[in-house]
Amino acid sequence: MIDSYGRKINYLRVSVTKRCNLNCSYCGAGTEKCEDGLTAAQIEKIVRAFAVNGITKVRLTGGEPLVRSDICEIAKRISGIEGIKKIALTTNGIRLAEYAKALKAAGISAVNVSLDTTDREQFRAITGYDMLHKVLEGIDECERVGFPSLRLNAVLVKGRNDDQAEKLVDIARNRKIDVRFIELMPFSSEGEDGKHIVTGKEILSRFPFLEPLNESSASEKNVAKYYGAESFIGRVGFISPVSEKFCKDCNRIRLLSDGKIKPCLGNDTVFDLMPYIDDENMLNEKIRQAILSKPMEHTFSCGYAASHGMNEIGG
Ligand code: 5AD
Repeated sequence: MIDSYGRKINYLRVSVTKRCNLNCSYCGAGTEKCEDGLTAAQIEKIVRAFAVNGITKVRLTGGEPLVRSDICEIAKRISGIEGIKKIALTTNGIRLAEYAKALKAAGISAVNVSLDTTDREQFRAITGYDMLHKVLEGIDECERVGFPSLRLNAVLVKGRNDDQAEKLVDIARNRKIDVRFIELMPFSSEGEDGKHIVTGKEILSRFPFLEPLNESSASEKNVAKYYGAESFIGRVGFISPVSEKFCKDCNRIRLLSDGKIKPCLGNDTVFDLMPYIDDENMLNEKIRQAILSKPMEHTFSCGYAASHGMNEIGG
């Protein structure tokens, strides 16, 4: 469906839970104990209504989606929906080695793993857990299982892990994995004052041999700008929502784990679907309303305090 600013909205991000098994400093979440919210059947019902309204791609996020034991059932249910062509997953990777094979069998074709550092001590400092090895095992297992798309997301924070750019870029150099640097957004006290952001431009300037790749704008409508070099197997991507807004190309809408639609990551308006969960017509109506209310641009800038944490939105 086309929104009020002429953008084709065809990509739905579904946060299946607020829960997470890590406690990353920039997320503002914490490993709070809470219910997952929507059941697998309710998620299916809502995604079906989104598909009627033009959604073709779904990404499962959290919290951490793999803390839900029914995550494969959720993926299977979604893959059976008419109109849904692609299902992707964003995970912190902790339980990925266990799940990779089953996720692929359930219809997931693209996996994004959050990895901010290759250093064990830094990983512990950022996430609160000494579990870097689990994430690395998960990435290895995804390569073995063979997902058509495997990408890493890294958030560099000044003074904490900004020495990791080279190590992370090396992964794209040596493996068929895309490594993407996401600018720190203001979802925690760390991101709030803007002082800890490492911009995409700053990182790119450390790699003068990287050349822009055309495919990022042509074949994929993508928020990431991709770069490569002849000797590289994977690509290096930059997602710069703070220094270079890409709102005019935004094709996404988000479903939170409690059944609310969030039309824009950087705007507090939400639409609650729960009162209409058993009424197909009303679900459709509310989804259309939500898409039409998607603002022209996100409003976060330095000092923005979000009403929903990243753990609720899932990126
Ligand atoms: N700023 C930028 N990226 C963030 N993510 C989580 N919190 C933030 C933040 N404050 C990233 C995660 C995940 C992706 C979906 O969003 O690292 O990979």
